[in-house]
Parts: sequence; C-alpha cells; structure tokens
Amino acid sequence: MSFMPAEDRAPVIVIDGPAGAGKSTVAREVARRMDLPFLDTGAIYRAITLVLLRDQIPPADSPKLRERVLDFRVSFSDCRVFVGTEDVTEAIRTPEIDRAVSAYSALRTVRESLLDIQRNLAENGLVAEGRDMGTVVFPYADVKIFLTASPEARAGRRYHERVGRGEAVSYDDTLSAVKRRDRMDSERSEAPLRAAEDSMLFDTTCRDFEQVVSRIMDMCRSKLKIPAI
Ligand code: DC
Repeated sequence: MSFMPAEDRAPVIVIDGPAGAGKSTVAREVARRMDLPFLDTGAIYRAITLVLLRDQIPPADSPKLRERVLDFRVSFSDCRVFVGTEDVTEAIRTPEIDRAVSAYSALRTVRESLLDIQRNLAENGLVAEGRDMGTVVFPYADVKIFLTASPEARAGRRYHERVGRGEAVSYDDTLSAVKRRDRMDSERSEAPLRAAEDSMLFDTTCRDFEQVVSRIMDMCRSKLKIPAI
C-alpha cells in the first residue's frame, strides 16, 4: 500500500524522537485514548537485528542480507512482538540488540524492506513512533510530533527502566550508550533522525507523563478537529 493523503481514512499520528524521550509510553497512551492501533517501529528494527545477528549476517549490504530481509515477517499481538510464530518481545530488548541495532538500521536495504510493512500496518489508522515516521514513512501523517529531552534525562529514564527489570547496569554506561546511539541515528545517511519541517517539537525534560500526554492529545484534537470532551 502506498501511503497517500485521503480525506476519509482513519487518522495517522506519528511521534518521532531520540531514544529515551518517552515516545513509547506516551504514544501507547495516546493510541489508547484515541482508540487507534499503536505501532512501535523501533521494535521492528530490533526484531530484524535479532534475526540478522542470529544468522551471523554482518551489518553491510550483501546478497545474503538482502535475501534474509525479504523473508522477514514481523507481527504484533497484545503488546507482544512476533517474528514468524516466535515471541521475541524480551529477546529484542537486550543490551546486545541495543548495541547492534543502529548499524543494521542504517542500511538502505533494511530500511526499504521495512517500508511496506510499516505502511500496511497503518491501513486502519494508527499512532506510530520511531525516528523517520514524519519524514519518510508517513510524510502525509495528520499529526506529526517530535519529542526530545536532554541526554541526561533520557539516560536516567532508560537506567530506571533497566534497574526496574532487575538488570545490573550503571547510569554512566547508559548515558554513553544513549549518546552513541543518538550520534549513529542522527548522522546516518539513510533516513537520519530529524524533525519533519511540519512537526510540532516538544521537549519533555521537565514534564511528567500526564503533562506530555495531555498536551499531545490537545495537539491531536486541534489538528483532527475533534471537539474536546
Ligand atoms: O526506539 P528504539 O530505541 O527501540 O529503536 C531502536 C533502534 O531502531 C534505534 O536506535 C534506531 C532504529 N530505528 C530507526 O532507525 N527507525 C525507526 N523508525 C525506529 C527505530
């Protein structure tokens, strides 16, 4: 499906931004309040990274990589992520995947192979979060938001998430990893992380979850001309 502007289709709301800006939790809640499906596109890049690492295919364009990405099948059900029939929800959130995902997601072959997958998932409208939703995947999205926060605030959130899951991590290592991934995601030539010109920028450093969600809901209602309740 090619994603085109259309008066009658369900709304497409996109939220881009760097790692740890709070996109996932915020986008999930906005989707719930808007009664739309939620799409975490980072999970798709993580899942393809898992598959390529397991098959020991290095992050460089090669016939083997091209063949493997064509075969890649990802799906979502009840907040779980599947590759084929395997539930990979936990397997895609390890430090090993964190380290490898930027290199694989910088490849044009990988990005192109995931375009249709993402667009097909938008058939009934959605709230999608990622890095290039507003610039490349859904340039005609009805609402485009770019969430940022300072690297320290983002590393702090990631650190607490990990500690909460019982992982042994240090704040300093988390901050270095966040900065490294920012650099790789922003400096790559394919679909680098940047705000679309028509997106609304929103810094979440000093805001709590409810403030961010309420503000985004206001933006959505105003753009989509939904009366406030
Ligand atoms: O949001 P996340 O941290 O789970 O994303 C993991 C990686 O996937 C991130 O470092 C960059 C890549 N990514 C991307 O290149 N484009 C997207 N739309 C989403 C994620």
